[in-house]
Amino acid sequence: MKTTVMVVDDEKDIRESLTGVLKDEGYEVMVAASAEEAIKKLDSRLPDVILLDIWLPGMDGTEALKEIHAKHQGVPVIMISGHANIETAVRTTKLGAYDFIEKPLSLDKVVITVEHAIEQKRLLEENRQLKQKAWAKYSIIGNSAVIEALKSDIERAAPSNSWVLITGENGTGKELVARNIHLLSNRSGKAFIEVNCAAIPEELIESELFGHEKGAFTGAHQRKAGKFDMADKGTIFLDEIGDMSLKTQAKILRVLQEKSFERVGGNEIITVDARVIAATNKDLKEEVRKGAFREDLFYRLNVIPFHVPPLRERREDIPLLLSHFLKEFAAESAREAPILSREAIEVLCGYRWPGNVRELRNLVERLVIMARSNTVTPEDIPTYIKGSQTAAPGSLFTSSLLKEARRDFEREFIVRKLKEAGGNIARTAEAIGIERSHLYRKIKSYGIEHEEATEHDNA
Ligand SMILES: Nc1ncnc2c1ncn2[C@@H]1O[C@H](COP(=O)(O)OP(=O)(O)OP(=O)(O)O)[C@@H](O)[C@H]1O
Ligand SMILES: [Mg+2]
Repeated sequence: MKTTVMVVDDEKDIRESLTGVLKDEGYEVMVAASAEEAIKKLDSRLPDVILLDIWLPGMDGTEALKEIHAKHQGVPVIMISGHANIETAVRTTKLGAYDFIEKPLSLDKVVITVEHAIEQKRLLEENRQLKQKAWAKYSIIGNSAVIEALKSDIERAAPSNSWVLITGENGTGKELVARNIHLLSNRSGKAFIEVNCAAIPEELIESELFGHEKGAFTGAHQRKAGKFDMADKGTIFLDEIGDMSLKTQAKILRVLQEKSFERVGGNEIITVDARVIAATNKDLKEEVRKGAFREDLFYRLNVIPFHVPPLRERREDIPLLLSHFLKEFAAESAREAPILSREAIEVLCGYRWPGNVRELRNLVERLVIMARSNTVTPEDIPTYIKGSQTAAPGSLFTSSLLKEARRDFEREFIVRKLKEAGGNIARTAEAIGIERSHLYRKIKSYGIEHEEATEHDNA
């Protein structure tokens, strides 16, 4: 479809000359002799840009601009102004007009302004689509209470400029949280720069973060911008911050405090405005205690703490995540998403997921590729998952009475914990915080088979 321009002017000569020149440029042209006519025509067809005269009989251009904006957001309007109403024209740009052109019209100027307006509209549209894609790519799936709370915390924290520290086990979605904070912040139009502190060798990390001057060290043939430069006005995501050396931590602290840094081998002080989001799977408090993490840096970063809970603590999200990734991988491989049988879902819900959502995602990819039929049954699920069920699938939910459910759970819990402790009763008792004799009685009363118990205990 051709790009369309609407010309609104009461002077026939102007309508005709503009139509002529715009058609020569390859545009399709709609015309209207009054604001009323234009507004009516817009209801049946929207042009890509509108040229609107300010002085019109009846409704004037300023009023028409307001009405067009209210009804048809996103269509750029270029005002045409007579010599006498330049001031009005300036005012219309404050009302959101894209630009204005003065009469007598320079046809070149008209063409260029129309081109620019269309280009800007295209960029805005592209930006909107990219954002939408980013949203789809980074949406946080899950409706467990903890995830809902996390999402609402993200919404509240995002618009502020505060530093954020995200903790959680591997694969729980820490990066996803960081990206959501960025997307929901006022910085979303700017860069999100990711730095994996654990992956960069100690001797390179400073140059990576702060850049270096030419000749700063052997191999520095050229001046190089650092990640902090790139993140100016945007967000810098310091992943695995617990793996950063104390020396680098000191430098980071300085950037956080003074919002400035020096390049390696340089002495110019560079100021940046970057929001810092840090993530770690370590217990930073513990690292502070051990002397491996600076206490002052910990408190500065920890202004807004986020904790992403492991998947096993929000098992109710598993079915949703499964179907989300099934759809994703099916779309990627251009085939129909297989269906998971009820039993298969139960088996997957009963697994411990030490690698959390990442592990689940990888498994779904494998299931989609390896599916032998349209339905995935427990047979298709790897044995290490079937073999390590926390409880027989679903069995914890078979009784309707709380008393019974509690008993079922306690039994399963003890079986599991005993297994984890290699069958050692004393160790298990200590781990779960009850007396050894008490645990022993429970094992007996639940009829838990436990041959090794006495052996280990006596050992
Ligand atoms: N709630 C969720 N909804 C949808 N996808 C998720 C969710 N949580 C995690 N993922 C996906 O799981 C994968 C791992 O997530 P992410 O990289 O954010 O985790 P992480 O905590 O940063 O892991 P690591 O500690 O290993 O770096 C990504 O592909 C991510 O998109
Ligand atoms: Mg990560």
